[in-house]
Amino acid sequence: MILLVDDDVAVRTSLGLLLKQAGYQTQAVPGAAEALVAAETTLPQLVLLDMNFALDTSGADGLQLLAEFKRRFPALPVVLLTGWGSIALAVEGMKAGAAEFLTKPWNNEHLLSTIETVLALHAPEPATETALTRRQLDARYDFGAIVGQDAGLLHVLRQVGQVAATDASVLIEGESGTGKELIAEALHRNSPRRRQPFVKVNLGGISASLFESELFGHRRGAFTDAKTDRVGRFELAQGGTIFLDEIGELDLASQVKLLRVLQDRTYEVLGDSKPRRLDIRVVCATNRRLAEEVRAGRFREDLFYRINLLTLRLPALRERPQDIGLLVRHFVEQLRTTYLRPALQVGTRALHWLQEQPLPGNIRELKNVVERAVLVSSHDELTPDDFQAQNFALTAAATSGELPAPGTMTLDEVEEQMIRRTLVHYEGNLSRVARALGLSRGALYRRLEKYGIEVVGT
Ligand SMILES: Nc1ncnc2c1ncn2[C@@H]1O[C@H](COP(=O)(O)OP(=O)(O)OP(=O)(O)O)[C@@H](O)[C@H]1O
Ligand SMILES: [Mg+2]
Repeated sequence: MILLVDDDVAVRTSLGLLLKQAGYQTQAVPGAAEALVAAETTLPQLVLLDMNFALDTSGADGLQLLAEFKRRFPALPVVLLTGWGSIALAVEGMKAGAAEFLTKPWNNEHLLSTIETVLALHAPEPATETALTRRQLDARYDFGAIVGQDAGLLHVLRQVGQVAATDASVLIEGESGTGKELIAEALHRNSPRRRQPFVKVNLGGISASLFESELFGHRRGAFTDAKTDRVGRFELAQGGTIFLDEIGELDLASQVKLLRVLQDRTYEVLGDSKPRRLDIRVVCATNRRLAEEVRAGRFREDLFYRINLLTLRLPALRERPQDIGLLVRHFVEQLRTTYLRPALQVGTRALHWLQEQPLPGNIRELKNVVERAVLVSSHDELTPDDFQAQNFALTAAATSGELPAPGTMTLDEVEEQMIRRTLVHYEGNLSRVARALGLSRGALYRRLEKYGIEVVGT
């Protein structure tokens, strides 16, 4: 049962019809008093609440009713309907506990998929579901090469399974190298869009001036440098999933443009004013805490709520040390084939040693460390020595240069100096600097910001 609250009888009728055709039972009421009575008596699964339902269009009544719903029925999801002009109101509502918001005029398909998603996310988990083991998850879903049994990871995989079939926008947060991209791919692979494209866009690598042309595409002649037509990423992803990686790096001007597209579900190719419909599932990832970026004023709150109907937080490797053994065995298995060394294995002592290493680069770093150990070792069972040998090899290589004497500099200072020198060497070309330092552009940006390094001429 879905409860509709709207003072406009035309809206109540058309929404009621739409939902009924989609197989939902509905009850429609014009105001707050009736809504609360209905919620009490018919126990709806979801409320669709028009924020401007009273004559007072400031939305204060809507917010008040929302607060009342949340107070009396905290588990009941409320989806807000607001006029286009009142995104700020929707954001207020999200802060007050609304599950999601839609803007009027609504798109029928989008409205239905939002309702389906919110219901899926709020469905009470059957008792057995909570205990879905890795084996049971694998029987139900395709998690391919995602190795691990840690409780935190399993929680993420269960959530992926729960929303994969819907069009829910998902935000994936996690430190560098924790497997965010693998999770994004898993969402796509387990969705009805799986045979359509999965398009990855690294937003950390796209400048503000090129954002629109990259994402929306352009017609020849749309601007001075547009010598030929260009197909945008949204068009490439049509029907499938777009993975917006490093969303935390997006500048504020581009954030507005992205919000508008996600809001209207339409976009325009530069130089072509015919709006195109967006039929795309959006998945975003960041190694920042986006909620903190919002608080600091670096990320738009309305966009934040638009992209994270669900947030998945990937645990860092140090939070799941028991998985290190599984991961190492998995990598060694791959390397046996790559290097034609069928008898290769890792000893228990080596595993224990690895579990004590800090590994700030998480799984990506673990994978590199294992591969380097395989390269330096000449015997089949890897020992701690093989792992340490490469550290020594690295240190030795470095000290033959001109590193400062121990005790004179911290690692942060060394890192800062190395970045400054590399910037000078490559004349501020950030792509080359990032490559030379073995960093993603996003990771380089974060360090530039951390050390307050200004890059001139780019
Ligand atoms: N659970 C896992 N099982 C096996 N391999 C994994 C797992 N998680 C990550 N990896 C591997 O680790 C590497 C890093 O993963 P991925 O690129 O998905 O991380 P990320 O979080 O997107 O990193 P970044 O923040 O640097 O972009 C990849 O080679 C990936 O295949
Ligand atoms: Mg990534």
